Amino acid sequence: MLAILVYIMVFLQLFKSYELCPLEYYVIDENHSYCSQPYPNVVDLPISSSERTAILRIHNHERRLVRGTNIEKMYWNDDLAEIALRYARRCEFDHDKASQRSVPRIPLSTGQNLAMGYDNWTQAIGGWIEEKEHYIHGYPATGIVAHYTQMIWHSAVLVGCAATMCPPSGIFDMKWPFYVCNYVTGQLNSNLYRPYDQGIEDRPLNDCHGKVCLYNGTLDLKTCQCQCSTYATGSQCEHLNCSILPPCYYQSPESCIAVNVPLECPRLCGLCDRYEVLKQVYGKANLAPNTPAIKMLRTTTITTTTSSTKRKPAGRKMKTNSQKQPRKLSLITHPSTVIASNSCNYLSLSIGPYLLHSLMIIIVTLKSF
Ligand SMILES: *[C@@H]1O[C@H](CO)[C@@H](O)[C@H](O)[C@H]1NC(C)=O
Ligand SMILES: *[C@@H]1O[C@H](CO)[C@@H](O)[C@H](O)[C@H]1NC(C)=O
Ligand SMILES: *[C@@H]1O[C@H](CO)[C@@H](O)[C@H](O)[C@H]1NC(C)=O
Ligand SMILES: *[C@@H]1O[C@H](CO)[C@@H](O)[C@H](O)[C@H]1NC(C)=O
Repeated sequence: MLAILVYIMVFLQLFKSYELCPLEYYVIDENHSYCSQPYPNVVDLPISSSERTAILRIHNHERRLVRGTNIEKMYWNDDLAEIALRYARRCEFDHDKASQRSVPRIPLSTGQNLAMGYDNWTQAIGGWIEEKEHYIHGYPATGIVAHYTQMIWHSAVLVGCAATMCPPSGIFDMKWPFYVCNYVTGQLNSNLYRPYDQGIEDRPLNDCHGKVCLYNGTLDLKTCQCQCSTYATGSQCEHLNCSILPPCYYQSPESCIAVNVPLECPRLCGLCDRYEVLKQVYGKANLAPNTPAIKMLRTTTITTTTSSTKRKPAGRKMKTNSQKQPRKLSLITHPSTVIASNSCNYLSLSIGPYLLHSLMIIIVTLKSF
């Protein structure tokens, strides 16, 4: 009897959580940024298609300039952009956790660059690029470089950005524009790992249309084919078989912060549960992260992508920018702003999937008891 009561309470609790957050996000992090509440009176600054083109052009220009042999061309990803938008609406000038910005179907490290107070995207990204004066390939950085190194990280093939106008809050006594870009993959510490392999001459970027390989698969830059690990199959290694995982040499889920651990220990890092949810939500045939992008590219259209970044740099940038902010803020004019809606798309699910998802939450949660 008591057990049943507890069960019902768990059900109600989960039901409530689900109302706030779709299962495919909830299973990644119960506080996923996709599900976060907007700051009151925040205003979206929608990205026009020419701004989007400029964001990609500037990133790819910087990526080409360094002459790396393994750098890939970067593409836009709408899922990353939507998650960035929902985070930007929170008006917190600090990074969210990597798991809070992870795209459900892209279980790879996801980085983030933040800026505030700049007049427009070109200026904001320009602020990140300025850091390259402190970057010397193969040597320790002489200053903050993490925004720049995320931009040029060889495997950062996907980016999605968003901006909002935040009302005065905390230390900011004027309204302030907030810029967020999320990247897949995120970067590593550039003092320990090189963002790219240095080449000698100008070369075009490797272009696999933003294709990513999951579950420890590696992308062959010549053929653009994924070489999958033993426990994954599919064109992007998107099918995970958790019944044939090799032994995992890490004990604690805390280890999953390190980028290699989720790739090699999917179960420890929750990727087996996540995979079950993904199958339910998207269908087994639709798990490849960006096949649409690849198809679109063949017809020479703009493609979709994903993103990732580092945490520490943003905090630093925050300081830099807040010093600049008063001057910059006074110049801001954004005629075409739109009030952020509090409406939640994900509540408009039809009843069928809704109940199914509630059930899935219980299964997933009970499994982890
Ligand atoms: C989610 O946020 C709540 C409230 O801030 C916190 O108590 C909880 O520990 C968070 N959950 C995770 C998994 O971080
Ligand atoms: C961005 O802002 C700067 C400084 O205000 C301005 O000179 C530049 O023309 C703007 N660029 C775009 C694309 O609006
Ligand atoms: C997982 O691998 C095992 C062993 O090779 C195989 O029998 C099983 O069918 C696979 N499961 C899926 C869902 O592919
Ligand atoms: C994951 O990939 C890395 C690099 O390709 C490789 O060294 C490692 O053995 C792989 N691990 C597993 C469990 O497949």
